[in-house]
Amino acid sequence: MGKKYERVKSCLDCVRKKTDFVPRVALVLGSGLGDLAEQIEVVDTLDYAEIDGFPQSTVAGHKGRFVFGYMEGTPVVIMQGRVHFYEGYEMEDVVLPVRLMRALGANTLFLTNAAGGMGDGFQCGDLMLITDHISSFIRNPLIGENEEEFGVRFPDMSEIYDKDLQQIIRQCSKELSVTLKEGVYLQFTGPSYESPAEIRMCKALGASAVGMSTVVEAITANHMGMKICGISFISNLAAGISETPLSHEEVKAAADAVAPKFQALVKLAISRM
Ligand code: HPA
Repeated sequence: MGKKYERVKSCLDCVRKKTDFVPRVALVLGSGLGDLAEQIEVVDTLDYAEIDGFPQSTVAGHKGRFVFGYMEGTPVVIMQGRVHFYEGYEMEDVVLPVRLMRALGANTLFLTNAAGGMGDGFQCGDLMLITDHISSFIRNPLIGENEEEFGVRFPDMSEIYDKDLQQIIRQCSKELSVTLKEGVYLQFTGPSYESPAEIRMCKALGASAVGMSTVVEAITANHMGMKICGISFISNLAAGISETPLSHEEVKAAADAVAPKFQALVKLAISRM
């Protein structure tokens, strides 16, 4: 058994001592969107701190726990608080939670995040369906010995975000009359926000939203053959487009404002996955 797989297996054994819940969908909640976890039919919760060997989040406002339960009938595991590379973790730690949720039984990964927007016509408060991504100056999470238990050495990434799941999300947004932008999400490491020149670079590369998460999780999940979808909520216009300096407070306040439509969309979409 490979070392990384062994570590995931030991986290799995630890979780299994506390709950035998088997999720179908794994949902990762971005900054400020964590309340959704309180709105499901909760079966069990588990603080990350209770899982031996599991990385702990250090960002204020990020709760660190798994919530297990039913969202509109679909068995889900929700990550309330994720682990970011900028906190100083090894990339292996950052993606361990995704591997663990796969090991728990989830075959679908729903990623959400707060992001800076730069797409044409984007406004603060918009939701964006992620159709593809760009990994920008971040360490690939699959570097190192490939462990076949997870997947192949050179995984294809030509369709990371599942087309059928994208269609479900589009259809749900129509039914709820929630405007849904679409675009490419680009991940930098953070923790500093970008400079205006970097945002011009992102735009030239074809990105519409920028943030500090998601891409490495999607690569890891795709490696394991999971179906993936994602929504960014545009908490601010990116640097140089926004007329004001960026702050984490602004991101959190924007999340509160957008939460109801975001939550309605995620709930309806998951009920159909
Ligand atoms: N840049 C990077 N990450 C972010 C932003 C941003 O503008 N907004 C929310 N997360």
